[in-house]
Amino acid sequence: MNHQTLFYQHIAQTSPESIGLEINRAEGIYFYGPNGQKWVDFISGICVMNVGHGAPEVMQAIEKQAKAYLHTMVYGEAIMGPQVEFAELLIKELNSRLDRIYFTNSGAEATEGALKIAKKYTGRSELISCFGAYHGSTHGALSVGGNPKKKEGYGPMLPQVKHIRFNSFEDLQQITEKTAAFIVEPIQGTGGIILPEPGYFQAVRQRCDETGTLLILDEIQTGFGRVGAKFAHQLYEVEPDILLLAKSLGGGLPLGAFISRTEIFEVIQQNPVLGHITTFGGNPLSCAAGMASFRKILDEGIIEQIPQKEAILHQRLIHPSINLIRGEGLLYAILFKDFDFTEKVRRALLQNGLVTLGFVNIDNGLRIAPPLTITEEELHHCCDLIIDTLNQMVI
Ligand SMILES: Cc1ncc(COP(=O)(O)O)c(C=O)c1O
Repeated sequence: MNHQTLFYQHIAQTSPESIGLEINRAEGIYFYGPNGQKWVDFISGICVMNVGHGAPEVMQAIEKQAKAYLHTMVYGEAIMGPQVEFAELLIKELNSRLDRIYFTNSGAEATEGALKIAKKYTGRSELISCFGAYHGSTHGALSVGGNPKKKEGYGPMLPQVKHIRFNSFEDLQQITEKTAAFIVEPIQGTGGIILPEPGYFQAVRQRCDETGTLLILDEIQTGFGRVGAKFAHQLYEVEPDILLLAKSLGGGLPLGAFISRTEIFEVIQQNPVLGHITTFGGNPLSCAAGMASFRKILDEGIIEQIPQKEAILHQRLIHPSINLIRGEGLLYAILFKDFDFTEKVRRALLQNGLVTLGFVNIDNGLRIAPPLTITEEELHHCCDLIIDTLNQMVI
């Protein structure tokens, strides 16, 4: 049986219609199919492949580590070179009071761990998050997610979770001495690339400090150069109490992390011991790949080149059918009039060789998040493709 048939017969499907791309090989910004097809991965596997597919530095690091050892022991028991060296690099580049890392398998697991330590450290149980937010699909992460539709049929959710409006200064008053943590994305990603208002994160930080609430920043999508800084919170000059990373963290292999200060992490060591454990979290192969990917971003000045690339999006993505483009760095949304039109554009782009995707929490937008290593020439070519596709459609 061919792979298409097996996929639709045996793989659990999460929507009635998946993209169903069969990919035989990926290199740079391109996917290659079994019948000679070639597509641009214009979303980097959703903000994972920030250094593109098949980056030699990442592949060599994986090969070297695979020859040394794979899994050794449950997280936190064995000393693994790739894990501790990557932790050192991350802490150095964060350049803040965050000095300790717990590596997980995924973003959702990082969210879960962060919510747990925030509750135990503060001795409080209320959690606050934003409408339109996305923090993962597991029970706790879904509870703090900001899309009620996604919770239908999966209740009950975690108790004592409140939602406030992202960017509402007024709503920050709902954070009180009862609140263990406020969890928020610096830029709402799945919500449709919504940027913070100037001063919003300073007000957030101030309110959290006033009430003794921990600020959890979810940079799972915005980290590793994606928005034109190593991490988005550095752009908005706000220091979290707990930082969540995943996606590009593993350089294409599964890896997440929640990062905080030593005194906060002490809660998982005792009463009870082993307060959060995971078999595969911080897998050495993922850490080796992630470190090579992050080093490439740092060493090759990839972040410094982003403003010119972002300018190309602004210059080129102008068309009567585009209502708005919004974003930061190379994380953008193109907004159209409605879902039907957006879906038509997505399909036509795919037909013409460009992979984009909609958003979970808004239905009239397409994501743009190419590998950060895309050249200016390649980016112009992709913009030509988008405009040509729209011209074919709008007559
Ligand atoms: C902001 C944000 N948080 C959390 C997650 C969940 O990460 P994962 O899919 O690795 O569980 C995602 C994934 O899209 C995300 O974008």
